Amino acid sequence: MEAESYLKMTAAAVEKRADKLIKNRTRAYPLLKKAMLYSLNAGGKRIRPALMFASYSLKGKDFRKILDAGCAIEMLHTYSLIHDDLPAMDDDDLRRGKPTNHKVYGEGMAILAGDALLTDAFYHIVEGNSEINAAFKAKAAGILACRAGSNGMVSGQAADLENEDFYSKGYSKKRLSSILNYIHSRKTSDLIIAACQMGCALSGDRENFSNITSFAENLGLCFQITDDILDVTADKKKLGKSGSDAKNRKLTFVSLYGLESAKEMAELSWKKAFGAIRRLKGKKDAVSTLESIARFVLGRDR
Ligand code: IPE
Ligand code: IPE
Ligand code: MG
Ligand code: MG
Ligand code: MG
Repeated sequence: MEAESYLKMTAAAVEKRADKLIKNRTRAYPLLKKAMLYSLNAGGKRIRPALMFASYSLKGKDFRKILDAGCAIEMLHTYSLIHDDLPAMDDDDLRRGKPTNHKVYGEGMAILAGDALLTDAFYHIVEGNSEINAAFKAKAAGILACRAGSNGMVSGQAADLENEDFYSKGYSKKRLSSILNYIHSRKTSDLIIAACQMGCALSGDRENFSNITSFAENLGLCFQITDDILDVTADKKKLGKSGSDAKNRKLTFVSLYGLESAKEMAELSWKKAFGAIRRLKGKKDAVSTLESIARFVLGRDR
């Protein structure tokens, strides 16, 4: 299926279900719930659940069987955005076309909304997806915990923060380039890898595990290089965020290599991702959906 239609279909299913999952937390403090729903319902491309569902569909049946896991990764991703925007981190005012969570609910409540989305995500993977084998769900939860935690995304964010103002550190270009690869692989590729690996784990598919990992690794890199490019070139309204990399003196593919080289590097990662798709086994429909999502990632303007 074409990426635009697939994203539309899967996003609608995730949005409806995630809204219900949060509203069903009956003991949750009302203001906390409101803050969680504010960021989760603000839109977003919902690319991670779509990648999870397409990877699952290589061997699995209806993606709706793992809808709760798709909601979980979107919750975890949304937590990472809320915390990323905080004054102590990127200090951004606009996200998904709306004022950032802390601008509306205050820093304390924004931190807590992030904490709750992160923790609830694991509950929904393990206790939801009722038609899926418990061992497959445990494996999926383990994958996400590993890729989102200190071995993954959070360390990418730590390195990103530590290397702001990188010009003043006097590092060689080679050293900066290796730091930058670490940052992007951890802060972005790891969650994209988790989405794809979880899809395979939830269908019990071991055959595609290594190829889906190499696909996602490269697609994640392409995704974040494109994010760096859009931070400079995009229409802020369409992007739905303010673009703060230059203000924060961030180490990005654009600040280190310049816009033109960054575009070439995004394309190179994309080609590697595309190569890995060719080695996937399973339903043709799922393979072509993954191809189409990859094309969307390279060509995106939001
Ligand atoms: C933004 O992710 C943060 C990055 C890892 C670049 P997305 O570009 O997927 O943001 P949404 O979910 O569509 O808002
Ligand atoms: C953040 O990267 C990646 C996360 C783990 C949230 P960015 O800081 O570049 O993401 P945006 O541009 O604010 O969405
Ligand atoms: Mg950031
Ligand atoms: Mg940011
Ligand atoms: Mg960015």
